[in-house]
Amino acid sequence: MSSTRNKLIQLLAERKDEFTSGQVLSEKLQISRSAIWKHMRELKKDGYTIEGVSNKGYRIIDYPSKLSENTIQWGLNTNWLGKKIIHKKSTPSTQRLAHQAALELAEHGTVLIADEQTEGKGRMDRSWHSSRNKGIWMSLILRPHILPYLAPQLTLLAATVIADVIYKHTLIKPQIKWPNDILIDQKKLAGILTEMQAEQDKVQYIVLGIGMNINQTIDDLPNDIKDKATSLQIETNKKWDLQQLIQKILETFEKKYEEYIINGFPNVKTEWEDYGFRINESIQITTMQSTWFGTFVGIAEDGALLAKRKDGKIERLYSAEIAWFNEGDESHAK
Ligand code: BTN
Repeated sequence: MSSTRNKLIQLLAERKDEFTSGQVLSEKLQISRSAIWKHMRELKKDGYTIEGVSNKGYRIIDYPSKLSENTIQWGLNTNWLGKKIIHKKSTPSTQRLAHQAALELAEHGTVLIADEQTEGKGRMDRSWHSSRNKGIWMSLILRPHILPYLAPQLTLLAATVIADVIYKHTLIKPQIKWPNDILIDQKKLAGILTEMQAEQDKVQYIVLGIGMNINQTIDDLPNDIKDKATSLQIETNKKWDLQQLIQKILETFEKKYEEYIINGFPNVKTEWEDYGFRINESIQITTMQSTWFGTFVGIAEDGALLAKRKDGKIERLYSAEIAWFNEGDESHAK
């Protein structure tokens, strides 16, 4: 899609239910009124429902529910991420597809995306509910020249990317629960699953899976996660354009990734901690060995969680479950 058309969608999307006049659009985009009209016609063909009322202007009533390689690539402003996109209507898991593709030598930056996953996979062997057209279910294939032990830094980077995109588009500041759950109001909106194929000192490839709940209503969420999960629609009371959000995630990811490859982890760490959930607060930590309470101090250079014990000792944790307590509340788990 031309970047003008993308800007047009963005302008209309920002106005939500309000109309924007053709005059304003043509001034902002620096194109003629008849060019605006032609773009509207193309958008309708792409599946957007647009209302045009004389003397009022235009507004988007509904977004296309269909994703495709083309619609994602139109106007995608990246150099390498998403140059190759493989889209499936339905697949067990984009992680699985991505591993297959990576083993068949798919290039760095290949994106696997699905409208629906029937066996979506979460961290710790949990399942990930991925209903059709309701969210972003995608896996990125990365081939970074970094040492394998640094790979978790990319997961933390990805969490800041998602948090940035949510913050910028909704003005709601999300929080990141270590290592990579994106929360709004203590409910999980998105998660990241990073899997790696590596030799001792060389990463063969990383599959970075992103699952993001977008257009679910509360009724769409399975009963067992209703009280601990949320979606952008639930939080903002409006529907979101999946294509646009996917493009923003890919663009922001590419930018931050390149910055990280040049400058390393310090900036990512600062950004992560800015979104960090319960930083400097008490958390309950459960590891394979024990459960204890400590203060969440921040993250280490290698992405480990840093927690202070009551005696002041700082522990570095690479695998742990966190729970927390709100005043007068039972524990909020995981
Ligand atoms: C988590 O447990 O928080 C991580 C969830 C990751 C889900 C995504 S959806 C796209 C990709 N495919 C999968 O099967 N899982 C990841």
